[in-house]
Amino acid sequence: MKVQRIAVLTSGGDAPGMNAAIRAVTRAGIDQGWEVCGVRSGYAGLIAGNFQRLLVRDVGGIIQQAGTFLGSARCPEFQTEDGKATALRMLNRERIDALVVIGGNGSQTGAHALAERRFPVVGVASTIDNDLYGSEMTIGVDTALNIALEAIDRLKATASSHGRAFLVEVMGRDCGYLALMAAIAGGAEAVLIPERETDPVLLAEQLRSAYQRGKSHALVVVAEGARHNAEALVHHFKENREHLGFEARSTILGHVQRGGTPGAFDRLLATRLGAAAVQSIAQGRHGVLMGLVHGTVGAIPLAKVVSHRKEIDLSLFELARVMAQ
Ligand code: F6P
Repeated sequence: MKVQRIAVLTSGGDAPGMNAAIRAVTRAGIDQGWEVCGVRSGYAGLIAGNFQRLLVRDVGGIIQQAGTFLGSARCPEFQTEDGKATALRMLNRERIDALVVIGGNGSQTGAHALAERRFPVVGVASTIDNDLYGSEMTIGVDTALNIALEAIDRLKATASSHGRAFLVEVMGRDCGYLALMAAIAGGAEAVLIPERETDPVLLAEQLRSAYQRGKSHALVVVAEGARHNAEALVHHFKENREHLGFEARSTILGHVQRGGTPGAFDRLLATRLGAAAVQSIAQGRHGVLMGLVHGTVGAIPLAKVVSHRKEIDLSLFELARVMAQ
């Protein structure tokens, strides 16, 4: 099939570097001699038929911008049979030959559903959670991690001044990657992740021990998806008059982590993966996710991506413990 016109969309939670990926898809696609269209607001825009032609200049000056200028959404309607049928109708109405989907787990599940219905789709791995099977790193993770570290460094300064323990909650609904990496790189005293739960009594013991070892502060990184959230833990310590040595406070970073200026790593990864997605379409290879495999750009079948769970390397949990002495 000769490709003439492709479309690109961003879906799910936005991630720093998504704009760089849209830019890469657009410019690499135009370089192939194709027309490129952006779809507004992810799968919702696909269903609504909200397409916009993108020219080289339309994606100028966005590589450094956080978010996604096309807009993103979580779209329950696309999960229905009707939703998918409408999306396919719109793609045909707009004479789109192939679609690039930039996003994480939910987005790539949608991409796979279209691929199963024989529409040519290529995914680009992007989520700050780094929980997408097949890609060692996803677009946005590095920037989100650096934002968490900046916050941790600042909290440590005030924690030291007051002899306090800070429980910092970072994003990651189902995956503790950001929390674990932030704990190691931020020199935290403890870390709570969904994959390895610590109970509040044990955490109190860890904090007390840190105090007794002469630390002037304690920093605990809590993943959003951990069983106990940061606020609840601080509340628990107060309620139980838990004597930690430190006074405890909580801080929730939340969406601040998603809105940062993409760093060099994310801009480069996004540019490489976006251009590789176009290359893949040009070669007639569809139904794959472009991601980082063994440190370089690779293609992973979408069927494999959506049927596997990415495991976190739990030896790093042990590393975090050893470094917290
Ligand atoms: O998947 C990325 C993510 O930022 C998660 O870490 C977080 O749990 C979720 O999105 C938040 O989603 P929303 O922006 O829809 O509240």
